[in-house]
Amino acid sequence: QKKPNSLLTSEAKNDQQPVLAPESDIASQFIWPDHEKPCFDAPELEVPTIDMTVLSSGDPLAVSKAAELVNEACKKHGLFLVSNHGVDSGLLDRAHEYMNFFFGLQLSDKQKAKGEIGYGYTNSFVGRYSSKFPWMESLTLRYCPDVQDIMVEYLVNKFGEDMRQFGYEYCEAMEKLSLRIMELIGISLGLEQSYLRDFFQENDSILRMDYYPPCKRPDLTLGVGPHSDPPSLTILHQDLVGGLQVLTDGKWHSVTPIPGTLIINIDDTFMALSNGIYKSCLHRAVVNNQTARKSLVFFLNPRMDKTVTPPACLVTSKNPRKYPDFTWATLLHFVHNHYRVDMKTMDAFS
Ligand code: SIN
Ligand code: FE2
Repeated sequence: QKKPNSLLTSEAKNDQQPVLAPESDIASQFIWPDHEKPCFDAPELEVPTIDMTVLSSGDPLAVSKAAELVNEACKKHGLFLVSNHGVDSGLLDRAHEYMNFFFGLQLSDKQKAKGEIGYGYTNSFVGRYSSKFPWMESLTLRYCPDVQDIMVEYLVNKFGEDMRQFGYEYCEAMEKLSLRIMELIGISLGLEQSYLRDFFQENDSILRMDYYPPCKRPDLTLGVGPHSDPPSLTILHQDLVGGLQVLTDGKWHSVTPIPGTLIINIDDTFMALSNGIYKSCLHRAVVNNQTARKSLVFFLNPRMDKTVTPPACLVTSKNPRKYPDFTWATLLHFVHNHYRVDMKTMDAFS
């Protein structure tokens, strides 16, 4: 069997990296403790699919019905799907082509994709909420018009100028969609339609490409361990392999890919912005022994120096302030330094 060159093999031995090698038994760093081992028969998560054309339909009843579904899902587990989202399927296909190309490069080439702290290529790290290494590789890019990341230059040299064009197009499409989703989420929280759009209009967002190689022992490891994400909103495009699971009612549930839809997650910063009314989605990813899985993650964040404080109408005597004010820069600093953060106090601990 041909060894995919995207995986860490003997060349990684010198720098103490664990080995992601699908053809052998897996290294102990990837074996998760029993209470965190994956299940493969998780029931399907109940999620609404929101038709995004509803916002411009001029049909107030349809809008309030959609907002109600969003409200229910975000209070329960923090995940819903969108359809007719306006993102060109050719753009998504191209993203997956770039991912195939990038993750298929030699390890030494992938490792040259280094950017500012927290951005660039990584193949193994102990995630914020993980006790073990995740069975995945990822490439993280910053999307902020004011910031030029040198890693992008590396990728452009490797892929050509077309890559830069693609990156902008993809992120622009995701930014546009995320702002429309924020309008709907705003309505669902009883805010002015424009309130959250305005809050996130200037943003400092992130595009991450995740690659989960096949694994000989998917029963022992996890693609990514249980966690919620620090940003505000995630737009996830997963391929058709499947593996995403969400914890709700004390049980893991699968989110099986549905072609034509995108997955929307509420993240930690938005949980705080909604004064705890909406849940930050607790999720993980399982891997399999047959097929590599790819997912494409766009994280919407506020501008670095924007104070995250809930709108006054979401703070009531029944629902007093749950989280202190903070800026995205503060939270991101902790994350980049591998601290976990108690959102209730904004204290960081390792
Ligand atoms: C993640 O957001 O942690 C990854 C989810 C996925 O790959 O489905
Ligand atoms: Fe995540």
